[in-house]
Amino acid sequence: MEWLRWERNPWGQEILIGLSWDLVWVAVGAGALLVVAHAIVYLWRWRGPGAGAAAIRESLLKQLPERILRHSLASRLFHWVMAVSVLTLLFTAFLPIWGVKFPWVTAHWIAGFVLTAAIIFHVIHASFWKGLSLMWIGSQDLTDGWLAIKEVLGSAVAPGKPGKNPLENKLFHHIVAIATLATIITGLIMMAKIDTPWWKRNPYVLADATWGIIYVVHGAGSVALITLIMAHLYFAVRPEKRWITLSMFHGWISRERYLEHYSQGRWPAGGNTSAATAASAAKQSEAGSQRAGAS
Ligand code: HEM
Repeated sequence: MEWLRWERNPWGQEILIGLSWDLVWVAVGAGALLVVAHAIVYLWRWRGPGAGAAAIRESLLKQLPERILRHSLASRLFHWVMAVSVLTLLFTAFLPIWGVKFPWVTAHWIAGFVLTAAIIFHVIHASFWKGLSLMWIGSQDLTDGWLAIKEVLGSAVAPGKPGKNPLENKLFHHIVAIATLATIITGLIMMAKIDTPWWKRNPYVLADATWGIIYVVHGAGSVALITLIMAHLYFAVRPEKRWITLSMFHGWISRERYLEHYSQGRWPAGGNTSAATAASAAKQSEAGSQRAGAS
């Protein structure tokens, strides 16, 4: 199996031109392995509906609105624009590599610009409206992650309930962010190699060896996204995750799901998905329980 693609230039020198496409099959294999491994572990360890479902107190349920907002309209729009643009980028890039020939480059870079604009919007929205702490991995996440692994291996100690984004979601987000940013930054540089309505191609802005590295990074991010998207789609269609997937369409989850799966302190319900609201509501609920304890 090859890792890289090389070409001989007119002077007979070997130059790096990109990542070997053998690695696409490694990525597909890794995705399939992940899906099968999860399905087996799930069948092996699943012990019926969690104790959390039975423990939901009617009184607590009545204090909450029937629907809890999980994804604002802006977040949902971002998610679907990103999904369509990434799938367009993957199909326009890999179909020609698999022998389906068509003029793919224009559709590819237009989808690339849409993705770039969507990511810029997301960075601003997440930094100034939602709050970056929603995605921060804290020590509590790590402790609960470790307890979750031990639980799968048979331990009776269950991990605590997470906030709005459990550890696995945060890890997935960060890995996808690295792969996507790698393709975006290199893709924007690669625009110098093609004709557009605004400029003519000029491959001489960089040396051959530098282009080689840029194509390898672009290819590596793309191939990683194949495995990541396979895993993402698998979890999205699993029956027990259907309520989370549906929330990406209509925005909300039921109060029963909220109480069953999330810590009220770490993600207080209140119709707002921002970190600042979550933090202040968590403080209030802590102060409330201290007052109740003192009286
Ligand atoms: C999910 C994101 C993306 C994926 C999966 C992807 C995939 C690919 C692949 C596999 C290639 C072929 C590379 C090679 O021959 O070594 C390619 C080329 C290219 N991509 Fe992307 N890409 C993505 C994002 C972007 C973005 C954001 C842009 C620009 C804004 C972009 C612009 C380009 C350009 C200009 C080329 C080179 C075309 C040429 O050499 O003629 N890509 N892409």
